[in-house]
Amino acid sequence: MQLRVTSLPGDGIGPEVTSQAICVLEELADGFGHDFELDEKEIGGVALEKFGNPLPDSTIQACLDSHAVLLGAVGNPAFDCNPRELRPEAGLLRLRQKLGAFANLRPAVFYPMLAACSPLREEIVKGTDILIVRELLGGLYFGEPRSIEGKQGARQAVNTMGYGEPEIERIARVAFQLAQSRRKRVLSVDKANVLECSRLWREVVARVGRDFSDVHLSHQYVDSAAMALVLKPAEFDVILTENMFGDILSDQAGGIVGSLGLLASASIGGAVGLYEPVHGSAPDIAGKGIANPLGAILSVALMLRHTFHLPQEAECVEAGVISTLGGGFRTPDLARPGERTVSTEAMGAQITEFVRLASRSTKRAAS
Ligand code: NAD
Ligand code: IPM
Ligand code: MN
Repeated sequence: MQLRVTSLPGDGIGPEVTSQAICVLEELADGFGHDFELDEKEIGGVALEKFGNPLPDSTIQACLDSHAVLLGAVGNPAFDCNPRELRPEAGLLRLRQKLGAFANLRPAVFYPMLAACSPLREEIVKGTDILIVRELLGGLYFGEPRSIEGKQGARQAVNTMGYGEPEIERIARVAFQLAQSRRKRVLSVDKANVLECSRLWREVVARVGRDFSDVHLSHQYVDSAAMALVLKPAEFDVILTENMFGDILSDQAGGIVGSLGLLASASIGGAVGLYEPVHGSAPDIAGKGIANPLGAILSVALMLRHTFHLPQEAECVEAGVISTLGGGFRTPDLARPGERTVSTEAMGAQITEFVRLASRSTKRAAS
């Protein structure tokens, strides 16, 4: 199969984790006999520096010409005071829009060998396997009008939260369909006691839910869901929610399973899938070679599953991650005091090596 991928390493730790994910993908393509074609382009702060634009046309075109996009992270404190459209983050938001990626899947899975990394007791976090389905193209992130206006000292800021029925319906369908191949439970998270958007959200989700009689649907307010997530994370299956609630709850889920650096994501629903770790550019650790590359590497697994429909290859990458963690390899975010740590590169190399050996034995078994 032809795997045409555009890589957008971006800012901070983005290039560090993306290069490891690409090594894994290259090895996998080689081992399983796929034709891997890679194009690398700029986004975010690096694109601002080079082109004065966080999402140059050349980047958009390359992404639209490929089957899937792998993104590292965007964000650089040097641009924090720029106008909104000239911030690195604006490049990512526009890319999601250009690709039509309305469904953001963010799995958060507990690995038993990382029990000591979770701030929660093992008996609480054990068995956690959550899929957050976050609406990605609506809500406060894109609502109009938006502005900051007025004289210094008396300025007024406005953002608008808006959701339309078709927008809610399409993301709800994605969540219910995904729940059908899991534990068949959808929890829709909203703020229907206060917000009109959430009232409509709840009504439409309930209506869509009637088409999925095999899936159990429940609703919870976001404040209460945030508490339940730390009290009993193992009870959640699919969490369906709007853009900003999903952004917040997914970082929380990262903390619960032991590190934000573990979380991968898939942004699908449009012509080209976008795959990226959930974390940001982590300026506090950028350039040190110590970032956890597992979120980026597991994003490759999501790409193999959702864009290329190659479940065996996806499982190979996931098995590589489990084997590497089982072997005691820990980047500093995963290490307990006194534990030996490895670099981003060493962690990535371990998974690449696993993929090399596993794909060879698969080939031998097939011949
Ligand atoms: P962050 O996710 O970059 O970092 C939060 C904390 O988690 C930091 O202490 C960081 O060191 C740690 N961390 C994150 N990823 C890690 C990894 N792979 N390995 C080890 N530790 C890791 O969030 P932030 O500090 O709030 O934001 C920094 C910048 O990133 C901002 O400009 C923000 O807008 C941007 N951002 C981008 C994305 C994205 O590109 N998808 C996501 C979130 C934040
Ligand atoms: C994420 C990030 C982005 C978001 C930012 C960088 C625009 O936090 O992917 O979670 O809020 O969606
Ligand atoms: Mn976020």
